[in-house]
Amino acid sequence: MEKYNAIYQDSILNKESFWAAQAARIRWYKQPSVILSQNEKGFYRWFADGEINMAALCLDHQVESGRGDQTALIYDSPVSKTVKRYTYRELLELVSRFAGGLQQRGVTKGDTVVIYMPMIPQAVIAMLACARIGAIHSVVFGGFAPHELAMRIDDAHPKAVISASFGIEFDKIIPYKPLVDKAIGEATHKPPLHIFYERNGMYDQLDGVTEIEFDLLLQAEPAGPVPVLSTDPLYILYTSGTTGKPKGIIRDHGGYATALKFSMDQFYDARPGDVYWAASDVGWVVGHSYIVYGPLLQGCTTVLYEGKPIRTPDAGAFWRVVSEHRVNVMFTAPTAIRAIKKEDHEGSLLKRYDLSSLRTLFLAGERCDPPTWNWIRELLQKPVIDHWWQTETGWPMVGIMMGVAHQEPKAGSAGLPVCGYEIHILSDEGVELGKGKEGYIAAKLPLPPGCLPTLWNNDDRFIAGYLQHFPGYYQTGDGGYLDEDGYCYIMGRVDDVINVSGHRLSTGEMEELVASHPAVAECAVMGIADELRGQRPIALVVLKDGQHPDEEVLEEELVNLIREKIGAVAFFRNAALVKRLPKTRSGKILRKTIRQIADGETYTVPSTIDDPKILEEIRETLEERRLGLAFRM
Ligand code: COA
Ligand code: AMP
Repeated sequence: MEKYNAIYQDSILNKESFWAAQAARIRWYKQPSVILSQNEKGFYRWFADGEINMAALCLDHQVESGRGDQTALIYDSPVSKTVKRYTYRELLELVSRFAGGLQQRGVTKGDTVVIYMPMIPQAVIAMLACARIGAIHSVVFGGFAPHELAMRIDDAHPKAVISASFGIEFDKIIPYKPLVDKAIGEATHKPPLHIFYERNGMYDQLDGVTEIEFDLLLQAEPAGPVPVLSTDPLYILYTSGTTGKPKGIIRDHGGYATALKFSMDQFYDARPGDVYWAASDVGWVVGHSYIVYGPLLQGCTTVLYEGKPIRTPDAGAFWRVVSEHRVNVMFTAPTAIRAIKKEDHEGSLLKRYDLSSLRTLFLAGERCDPPTWNWIRELLQKPVIDHWWQTETGWPMVGIMMGVAHQEPKAGSAGLPVCGYEIHILSDEGVELGKGKEGYIAAKLPLPPGCLPTLWNNDDRFIAGYLQHFPGYYQTGDGGYLDEDGYCYIMGRVDDVINVSGHRLSTGEMEELVASHPAVAECAVMGIADELRGQRPIALVVLKDGQHPDEEVLEEELVNLIREKIGAVAFFRNAALVKRLPKTRSGKILRKTIRQIADGETYTVPSTIDDPKILEEIRETLEERRLGLAFRM
């Protein structure tokens, strides 16, 4: 623990000198002299007077340091049967040209650009091109439905939307153009420019005026990197909150670059020249930090994988990628490992591949259950590191800092606080709880560099959602505890957010949608345990007086509604009718107790419950419908 303790304590006790030293390890146009400051609203800022450009760090700097001929990106797509490599020099050329094309069409520093794309290199090119000219990208996960895209367009007010002709899910083609058209139709803000990458044939014709081809922009003169302030936004990434409206997390250039560099060195122990593979999606924060920016600014080779852990073509797919590309550091979600475990329990597919290049497997995005962790650890015979973080922080908060010391992880724990994060467990009243006591997980302010400075155009929501409940702390939205050795156990969200296959979704939003059905008087949506996906949402529905729809028909309508408005990824499959919902005397629905019943957890009947008999009715309904692991046959 000594090495870890020393660096961790330094990061907490000497914040400014610690992060100034880390910032000095990246290239600035203007070195910052102000390390930590507060703006007029009291929000913390890192390196306020520094000037930098993230894309230049990822590309120009690498080429100038002699990495021009090194592979920067490997696109491996079993679904399109393609493997393509781009050197740093080639990627720089493509990004510079695309950036020039954007500039030519009027996109400049401070403009926003929405990117809605599958896992193809053009998504990475578009992101880096925006960063290069100081435009702010907002990538929307391709699995989201048009309504979700429309909400993000209306909040971000983009000058351009960049998309592709289609995505591929297993063997299913998903045309994107109709989804983009529908979203723009629904949105109030109409982006003046729509750019589409044509993947072997377009489904719809482009009008050539507002709608243009991606490749056309590549014909432009290359644009150089535009120096921006450290605090200027690099991107907005929308994430689910407790309401139907997603939260626009802002990421800056300088703090983020400093934090990512530090995390690549000290957390992931990924060295320049290594092959780094995050099997995630560019639409999530993991994709932003560890498919695109982190590996490239570290001079690694990053893998962009357009496939799944199973059925593309089998449960050996991940191990094929590791062995074929000699992956050194890998990152995925526990769901993916559970999916592989289900189909290749003995690891016979895994054993077919040479995995000698792999040093460490990192897991995050959702809680890693000990059986899954033990299974993969035994099979791989390598360190498997769970770690905890959020879209808001942009990089790990808790885990094992593999670049510092190979501290032994503990099953069920996400690890130890990472440098810069002072983790506290608080009661609802903000009182610090002792070791082993479960409470709200909060991080003392200021947060380290890289974390959200505020929400896009919404300082009030930033304060209300994160800072207000525990003054002086950032409220993470997760609950958990610390053990005697300081290891952190994340026990799940304390709000209306769930994690389905590592995808963060809002049950609050689903509840708003279910409640909009004309037959529904009130409803509760909560995440129940799912063996593969970690959690999945279900609804309990109370009908309006005089409404007598067939339960199956209503369920289908509600399932389709969530699919159409949020997307198939929500994996919303069940809505059960109940006569009443259990509530406290003040009218709060007891969602947590319902979830505990479904999951077969022991629970105490809240003393404030209005009518305890309702819980028994709910239990009977869940059992009858076999909803929840507790009632599986
Ligand atoms: N675009 C469009 N649709 C998508 C999508 C995307 N990017 N991702 C998922 N979907 C769709 C699926 O096609 C499926 O549609 P269907 O209901 O019509 O069949 C639906 O959303 C549910 O998908 P999912 O829950 O992923 O189930 P699955 O059977 O398709 O795949 C797994 C199961 C385990 C293979 C898959 O969930 C997986 O790879 N999980 C790991 C995800 C991950 O890495 N998350 C971490 C992010 S950090
Ligand atoms: P996202 O913002 O999509 O990265 O989701 C962040 C949320 O996912 C966190 O607030 C947690 O609820 C959950 N999460 C992420 N990683 C872990 C982990 N290692 N263990 C438990 N929960 C996790």
